[in-house]
Amino acid sequence: MAKDAQTNSLEEFWIPFTDNAGFKKDPRLIVKASGNYMTDHRGGTVLDGSSGLFCSPAGHCHPKIIEAVHESMQNLTYVSAFGTSHASAFALAEKLARLLPEDINHVFFVNSGSEAIDTALKIVMAYHSAMGSDRHRFVSRERAYHGVNIGGVSLSGLVNNRKTFQDVIPNVVHMRHTWNPDELMVRGQPEHNGVDLANDLQRAVDTFGGGTIAACFVEPVAGSTGTLAPPKGYLERLRQICDENGILLVFDEVITGFGRIGGKFAADAFGVTPDIMTMAKALTNGSIPMGAVAVKDGIYEAITDKAAPGAIEFFHGYTYSGHPAACAAGLAALDIYETEGLFERAADLSPYFLDAVYALRDHPMVKDIRGIGSMVGFEMHSNGKPGARGGDCQKKLFWNGMHVKFTGDTGILAPMYIAEEKHIDEMMDKLTKTLGELT
Ligand SMILES: Cc1ncc(COP(=O)(O)O)c(C=O)c1O
Repeated sequence: MAKDAQTNSLEEFWIPFTDNAGFKKDPRLIVKASGNYMTDHRGGTVLDGSSGLFCSPAGHCHPKIIEAVHESMQNLTYVSAFGTSHASAFALAEKLARLLPEDINHVFFVNSGSEAIDTALKIVMAYHSAMGSDRHRFVSRERAYHGVNIGGVSLSGLVNNRKTFQDVIPNVVHMRHTWNPDELMVRGQPEHNGVDLANDLQRAVDTFGGGTIAACFVEPVAGSTGTLAPPKGYLERLRQICDENGILLVFDEVITGFGRIGGKFAADAFGVTPDIMTMAKALTNGSIPMGAVAVKDGIYEAITDKAAPGAIEFFHGYTYSGHPAACAAGLAALDIYETEGLFERAADLSPYFLDAVYALRDHPMVKDIRGIGSMVGFEMHSNGKPGARGGDCQKKLFWNGMHVKFTGDTGILAPMYIAEEKHIDEMMDKLTKTLGELT
């Protein structure tokens, strides 16, 4: 272990979502980071090919965020989240509401994407209860990732995330995923099957009764499973079925929010407005943990109006909801996105980025490429052991100077919005070199 890593033992820390034994034999520690790059514990420079875990599109260690958090902490390091509050929580909620689709103006703060999803589930339950309904069924989708808390795992459509934690909340119905093996190498939204796939929700309505279904949760672009853009007409048809049956539509925008897909949110990019949106990650540019659930005015009003005068309307909240440091980081991040025009910058770079990745379409290792906006899933042929080639690729890439998030044999490239064409070129050089080293 290099001296500057400043640790004597790798044993005690239980690393999440990581092969602990393998990692501890061949650790990859980051000692510092700035902009598009990180420095590893051996002193190597590593291009961040997935913006952290899609968290940091404005670049690592943005000085304005550091300054804002530092300044905020001079005055407040903690404020009780229940019964008292502080101005920057209100300011961030207001700023966020201005960014969100028109009718979505009420924001509940949490500390992660997983908490956002479990909070959204409880808001859905509280809303239907306030409306005098006993709807208790949820609809999700195969290959969905909605975080790791109990509710999110129940919604999950990824077998490894749920097989050890079976049926933790009951009455979840899964629609089919939207990947079509007959439509490979699609750039943007697939042309076919959108309405047909969305009619899985109609089948749930026909099977169980629309009046039993509380909400339908989808990632507008399925992210963690390796970038599945919605086929044309899909989200529109989900919206229509929800409207016809009083079902709440929830978009999990934990990855797709804040400019990743082209619009401010995927809801804007696809022109479909959900009833509830979850977000996290880029909300603070990844600098301080924070998530949020934003709801349409009618949902907030239904829940608050139902309560007796003086009573707590929604029995839910976290000790760290709206933490002052997170709010300061969120306000600074949103300000940077706006003043540096980062969503527009990402949208401008997108064609160059997508052209570069799709140039790999005939590479013998590559099975499928799925790109939209500033995110591409590139899926490699399996070597017979699912995920083995992906794991190998991730490690080799790192020591070749780039870090990329992998799911099984699929890598997810998501450049920072501050990236330039030269960073995309570097990304592709490192990826191509590494693909050539795989067996
Ligand atoms: C769509 C989606 N929802 C929820 C989560 C969970 O977020 P967190 O890891 O912050 O709990 C993620 C994380 O990647 C995600 O992609």
